[in-house]
Amino acid sequence: MPATAPIPNDLESHWMSFTPNRAFKRRPRMIARAKDMHYFTPEGRKVLDGTAGLWCTNAGHNRDPIVDAIKRQAEELDYSPAFQYAHAKSFELANKVAALAPGDLNRVFFCNSGSEAVDTALKIALAYHNMRGEGGRTRLIGRERGYHGVGFGGISVGGIVNNRKMFGSLLAGVDHLPATYNREQQAFTKGEPAWGAHLADELERIVALHDASTIAAVIVEPMAGSTGVLAPPKGYLERLRAICDKYGLLLIFDEVITGFGRLGCAFAAERYGVMPDMIVFAKGVTSGAVPMGGVIARDGIYETFMRGPDHAIELFHGYTYSAHPLACAAGVATLDLYRQEDLFARAKALEPVFADAAMTLKGFPNVLDIRTVGLCCGIDLASRAGSPGLRAYEAMERGFHEADVMVRVAGETLALSPPLIVSEAQIGEIFERVGQAIKAVA
Ligand SMILES: Cc1ncc(COP(=O)(O)O)c(C=O)c1O
Repeated sequence: MPATAPIPNDLESHWMSFTPNRAFKRRPRMIARAKDMHYFTPEGRKVLDGTAGLWCTNAGHNRDPIVDAIKRQAEELDYSPAFQYAHAKSFELANKVAALAPGDLNRVFFCNSGSEAVDTALKIALAYHNMRGEGGRTRLIGRERGYHGVGFGGISVGGIVNNRKMFGSLLAGVDHLPATYNREQQAFTKGEPAWGAHLADELERIVALHDASTIAAVIVEPMAGSTGVLAPPKGYLERLRAICDKYGLLLIFDEVITGFGRLGCAFAAERYGVMPDMIVFAKGVTSGAVPMGGVIARDGIYETFMRGPDHAIELFHGYTYSAHPLACAAGVATLDLYRQEDLFARAKALEPVFADAAMTLKGFPNVLDIRTVGLCCGIDLASRAGSPGLRAYEAMERGFHEADVMVRVAGETLALSPPLIVSEAQIGEIFERVGQAIKAVA
């Protein structure tokens, strides 16, 4: 083909992520632009964003202060090396993130996504024990149904079978806690279920099996989002913390979804009053506007690395785009906007309204369970016989094409997590439209 031949404007070249490519390309769900609570299709149809994109645009879409900050930064400094050099915005953002995190969670390491941030936290955990002369602590403990992104570290400690089964033997030495969900005990719960704290005691069994001297860290999502919105049972996280303390295990909270207001606080650690040793964040830090992720570590972890000759690198880890200027500028503007509009408190105030609206779908055809916590909701639908996941997929399609609402689908679950700027009226609209879609696939 001559170099000047026009490139066909079709959809085939792009191998889309976590998407059924053939079904999508037959009937695409295209987005052209966005503003505040809405997406717009190329034809100009307005679609209500029930999901904050992928749980990330917490401040709403295309907010002027964030857009302006990115524009200004692009004009001033496109890139500076992440290793051995720095620019001022990375320190400004790190200070702001540290100020939001509880206790002595004060040291912020930047990367570009949740997956990278998870790998970073796992590597820091292993290296931390090594630095302390406990290099035998190499095991990592995750949880069934957990989602920690798609790096080899993340899928190893993660517990979603489809994300793991095709990818070989993964990291060695990983074990898993059981998932915290039990429909018989917990169906239609608003907030944290009363049943299930005892499941944290499974960590005792795991420690007894492997011995504490071989275990580096436990990583959990305080609220498991991607598997379908599972709030932690009351008292569960406290128990995990106590067992980790007893055996010297680091506790890592993956707050990629729960960070930056989703549960009505800056971090879930604050909502639950449980201090992890590290927090993994991404998504909401820039309200999705520029890719960014990171890890917040307690002072003591950072200090453990600060030894050896002054000119020597303390942690052999980082990414070309760690603390990228555009991401840092977006992050600073986003955190300022959250504060100016008091969006975390807004999410907290809206939680009961959101939960009540969600529960209006109880009794709709095929609805097996509805769970809510913060501004998150999971709705489990009964499968179509012989076609797992099809009914929920169809509901998502109907929602987009016919009911003008964006919902997320995870297996048999519809997940909702609107931007924190959502109004009470829009909460009503979201659930009314989701209800329409559920009825359409009855
Ligand atoms: C809890 C959690 N951890 C990690 C990730 C991975 O983030 P990313 O897709 O930015 O790599 C996600 C993404 O949804 C997540 O929900």
